[in-house]
Amino acid sequence: MQAAIYPGSFDPLTFGHLDIVMRAAKIFDHVTIATLHNREKRGRNLFTLEERLEIIIEATAHIPNVSVESFAGLTAEYARAKGVRVLVRGLRAVSDYEYELQVAHLNRNLNKNLETVFIMAATRYSYVSSTMAKEIATYGGDISKLVPPASLKAIKKKLETHQLQP
Ligand code: PNS
Repeated sequence: MQAAIYPGSFDPLTFGHLDIVMRAAKIFDHVTIATLHNREKRGRNLFTLEERLEIIIEATAHIPNVSVESFAGLTAEYARAKGVRVLVRGLRAVSDYEYELQVAHLNRNLNKNLETVFIMAATRYSYVSSTMAKEIATYGGDISKLVPPASLKAIKKKLETHQLQP
């Protein structure tokens, strides 16, 4: 069985992420979406780990060969522990490439059996990011075409409870 891990912050999941998941699920027998709870990321994320997991689970419930997990520490070590040899990352534009190339080389350095497979997001999602979706929502803009309903619901809740402010 060819399994892959799609790691990320997913703060929150966008339609761009979902597009990558659906494409990956057609290539690999199983895809684990893995979001991290590393200390250095705490405080930088709007959503707690539990909230991000809940959103991802709801948004991907229709894809049978996808599961959702969290991990702490290095992605390369997490993949080794799971016995998975492929990481999936999405590329939106050339600007993503330099950072992703560096991370892919670092990950292979940490785990020589690990390959990173890049999947190009659909052009209609090439400009979508969690950061931009949150910013637009902050100013009352419509983000229903940028994030799935589960993320939209969660962002609205953050706005209502003033955890997301301009
Ligand atoms: O969605 P993101 O924020 O671009 O995802 C980045 C992520 C989670 C894939 C990356 O930060 C990561 O792998 N972090 C775990 C720590 C690690 O392995 N660091 C070494 C490679 S940067």
